[in-house]
Amino acid sequence: MKHKLFSPYTIKNITLKNRIVMSPMCMYSSHEQDGHIQPFHFAHYESRAAGQVGLIMTEATSVLPEGRISHEDLGIWEDSHVEGLLKVTDAIHRHDAKAAIQLVHAGRKANLRDEIFAPSALAFNEVSKVPTEMSERDISQTVTAFKHAAERSKQAGFDIIELHAAHGYLINQFLSPLTNKRNDNYGGSRENRYRFLRETIEAVYEVWEGPLFVRISGAEYNDDGNSIDDFVYFAQEMKAQGVDLIDVSSGGVVPAAIEPYPGYQVKYAEQIKERVNIATGAVGLITSGNQAEEILQNDRADLVFLARALLRNPYWPKQAADELGYELEGPRQYTRAW
Ligand SMILES: Cc1cc2nc3c(=O)[nH]c(=O)nc-3n(C[C@H](O)[C@H](O)[C@H](O)COP(=O)(O)O)c2cc1C
Repeated sequence: MKHKLFSPYTIKNITLKNRIVMSPMCMYSSHEQDGHIQPFHFAHYESRAAGQVGLIMTEATSVLPEGRISHEDLGIWEDSHVEGLLKVTDAIHRHDAKAAIQLVHAGRKANLRDEIFAPSALAFNEVSKVPTEMSERDISQTVTAFKHAAERSKQAGFDIIELHAAHGYLINQFLSPLTNKRNDNYGGSRENRYRFLRETIEAVYEVWEGPLFVRISGAEYNDDGNSIDDFVYFAQEMKAQGVDLIDVSSGGVVPAAIEPYPGYQVKYAEQIKERVNIATGAVGLITSGNQAEEILQNDRADLVFLARALLRNPYWPKQAADELGYELEGPRQYTRAW
């Protein structure tokens, strides 16, 4: 059998050696609170690259200081951030893996001391801060911040950019009728709610020629929220704008109880892939080689993203290969154990 999990995948000018992606995971380890890379980050990302993950995606990296989820998040809002990130991509590339960066603005989910911003002045829950409603000027400055972040991502050697439009962060707050109550061009209809993401994608493409992914929350777990039909519409717009892949997660827009089970979000990736004819990534409780292979062979998604399984085991690709009976090449230095 030809294992799809270990087959290469080409998007634009980039070929991934396999379909395994390290899903973005905030590590809250920029302990100087200045958004800079710390020694922990090198070990964290390089070890998964040595473990033969095909694509390593950084944790959510903020395009503005007020867009951080916490004070310890990584940042890319100033040129001085490039140097550390370049060392991360060098380390990843040494293992023949590709490097992606997830760009974020947390909006109302920024857990910070200072003022926070969102499409509408609605707090996430009773204990979170009420954000300031963004003016059109704030919006255009934020779009520009994404563009500058994309430029710096290129300087830092990243192969792929992912925009974080999921989990209730700023872009998701614009997309969702639960969090966007604006009466201007950025709120109301689906078309208007999509405008912030549209302008962000356009701005990124002014400076970025490489593959662009967007992570969405394909379900909002609320009857008044976006439905899968709304996400099909957004995905069609993204496809028309040249987005290469939609990474489909779910939830986080408003508080909701979710009961996850193995592969609980795969169905959203599958529906978007089928209805929009765009490449998708599946994520969420994918833990075994067989499960990952099933998703790919049944054309339910094009890439599989793993988060916690890779935290537990940086050599998860080897574990999956053993399970599937595939002979995975390992780092030369580890041949005696491989
Ligand atoms: C510690 C941790 C941090 C996370 N941070 C991010 C993040 O920065 N960006 C993001 O899109 N998702 C984030 N997630 C969600 C994961 O990328 C993934 O979608 C989720 O954990 C489900 O996948 P899993 O079952 O393989 O862990 C995080 C998850 C964990 C466990």
